[in-house]
Amino acid sequence: MIEIKKLTKQAENKLILRGVDLSIHKGETVGILGPNGAGKSTLLKVLASLIKPTSGMIKINGLDLKKDSLEIKKILGYLPHSSLLYDHYSPLENLVFFGNIYGVKNVEQKAAELVKEVGLSFFLNEPVKNFSRGMIQRIAIARAIIHEPEVLLLDEPHTGLDQGAIAILNNVILSMKEKGTTTLMVTHDFKQAAEICDRIVIVKNGKIVDDFRIENSSLGYVSQKYELQVEGVS
Ligand SMILES: Nc1ncnc2c1ncn2[C@@H]1O[C@H](COP(=O)(O)OP(=O)(O)OP(=O)(O)O)[C@@H](O)[C@H]1O
Ligand SMILES: [Mg+2]
Repeated sequence: MIEIKKLTKQAENKLILRGVDLSIHKGETVGILGPNGAGKSTLLKVLASLIKPTSGMIKINGLDLKKDSLEIKKILGYLPHSSLLYDHYSPLENLVFFGNIYGVKNVEQKAAELVKEVGLSFFLNEPVKNFSRGMIQRIAIARAIIHEPEVLLLDEPHTGLDQGAIAILNNVILSMKEKGTTTLMVTHDFKQAAEICDRIVIVKNGKIVDDFRIENSSLGYVSQKYELQVEGVS
């Protein structure tokens, strides 16, 4: 589903990604872990076509990112650090706006359903500018999935969410997985990664230093692997 070969990204004089090779199958849920500044968000931005790679090859669903980025964008859902929402719009207006960009059918109904799913029906018509961080994150998650993307790119999606919203988000990811969605999730939250991911990739200094499958939601195993690769503890 996602094929990345020898990907590099240089910004100014800094080599942020130093040769990333990664292959992800349809329906996989992959957690990307790594220390601050490792290049995780940069990798997602390149996949979302927000920034251009310096060199290397990326294919998503058989399409080449260099040539077919418009086609690829249609099947991608991207949740960045910043919410991308319009402050003066309500949740409903924001979701209808983004849904229309993607040509979503019955967009108002779909938007209202999603607002309900993320537990904010009560605030359906309130401007987003008065929302707390966690509320904004909930709507941002709904925005990222309104067009039922085949590939979901999530950058620290659990940040700022309360326990209820974490459960909602995890259910969203798992139910999309059942429909065949492929998810790439950058996170510092090992517990959530262990709970919902099938596979963990560890990025350090712009390179993948470990890539393994996890079974039985083993948080201890993820922490152990991370410490070994990132903190040099064995
Ligand atoms: N446009 C840019 N110009 C110069 N340097 C950049 C640019 N964007 C990112 N960087 C640098 O690239 C490195 C990787 O940044 P990135 O945001 O990908 O890290 P990250 O792994 O997501 O970290 P965090 O866990 O803190 O979110 C950082 O050192 C950052 O300063
Ligand atoms: Mg980041």
